[in-house]
Amino acid sequence: MKSYISKPARKIYGQFVPPGDKSISHRAIMLASLASGTSKIANFLKADDCLRTMDAFCAMGVSIVRERAGQVTIKGSGFNGLKSPSTPVDLGNSGTSMRLLLGILATQPFRVVLTGDASLSSRPMKRVTAPLRKMGAKISGKDDANYAPLEIEGGHLQGITHLNEPASAQVKSAILLAGLRASGKTIVREPNMSRDHTERMLEMVGAPIHRKGIEIEISRAERLCAIDYQVPGDISSAAFLMVAAALLPNSDLLIQKVGLNPTRIGILEVLSQMGAQIKWTMDATKNQIEPVGTVHIRGSQLRSIPIDGEMIPRLIDELPILMIACALARGKSIISGAKELRVKETDRIKSMVTGLNAIGGKAEEREDGCVIWGVERFSGGRVVSHGDHRTAMSFSIAGLNSKDPVTIEDIDCVGTSYPSFFDHLEMLSQK
Ligand code: S3P
Repeated sequence: MKSYISKPARKIYGQFVPPGDKSISHRAIMLASLASGTSKIANFLKADDCLRTMDAFCAMGVSIVRERAGQVTIKGSGFNGLKSPSTPVDLGNSGTSMRLLLGILATQPFRVVLTGDASLSSRPMKRVTAPLRKMGAKISGKDDANYAPLEIEGGHLQGITHLNEPASAQVKSAILLAGLRASGKTIVREPNMSRDHTERMLEMVGAPIHRKGIEIEISRAERLCAIDYQVPGDISSAAFLMVAAALLPNSDLLIQKVGLNPTRIGILEVLSQMGAQIKWTMDATKNQIEPVGTVHIRGSQLRSIPIDGEMIPRLIDELPILMIACALARGKSIISGAKELRVKETDRIKSMVTGLNAIGGKAEEREDGCVIWGVERFSGGRVVSHGDHRTAMSFSIAGLNSKDPVTIEDIDCVGTSYPSFFDHLEMLSQK
């Protein structure tokens, strides 16, 4: 297992384009595979999670060609052209692949076994399998289909009305994808709005989907149109260097071509409320499915604010790096309503609080979040990633603001979402 030594830095300086959005890359492969015709996807994220989704559709007979840098050509099979894969489909560490694929497989008249690594096999799946069973799919697996390996056999489905509580984009997406082929209407309601990439992309491919605020309705589709689509940069990946720049005085960082979907920009709003010098502007491109733009951030002293409520789903993946920001902000930060963090790639409340205390921060776990008392800088030390990419990247940023280096053990996991992270970090940090 590889480790990384993150050393103190003076500032973050320069500009960069973050890698393609992970959530959108998964969805682009899925919908293009189900479409009738040839789709072209540019800036696809070539990271392990998305490649698992791609391999799954290749195993079901879809022709997918990876061209030059990030360009992918997909000959869609239509709804009726997928074939039963000859072996179990291994989805590695990717929760998005497993949950969304379950929704698609619920519509297919063949049997598939989905497996994953130890982390994915310990993540709860009943939130998806229960509503899909209600729609008519046959699914089995440990603890009443709560854990992978999961065996699924789909077929004729009936639409349902589902309350998506707590708000989860993966659950919502799985049900909408199943609803694409169900009889009658399928309706999903959320208490707060989770990321809406699936809805936007379903509109783009011509699916009969209607949105009224936090309620989404979908009816059966007979075909989907092929797409020609450029994936925006991933704001969740950009968040690491964004926070690094916010924390180091004299930093000046420009992040370009980054996705600025309103359901994903909680990180910008919270950093701004914490006193960061941050500005974001949308690029003026017409007919954009997803807003894209530029974020400019300079270093300053941050102050604590409460992080909770409707904001949580809009920055769920950024909470680990925000915990680093809170640990160096003036005052006491309370993060609550974020129990979902306990069932991510690892228990992120535990991994982050333990790591913060190991490097000279001061934090305490709560059932649904944590309390963090700001310190001037970290003292340094050793942390483990627990195989979680966002924990590993967060502590790599912590090391920049530390008296002595921070060593992060087990960094291979960073390849699941941001393979060029350490190159970008080295390129932009000045010692
Ligand atoms: C994702 C949704 C989020 C997020 C995950 C990716 C997606 O999870 O944490 O990393 O692509 O739909 P939820 O299902 O909890 O919203």
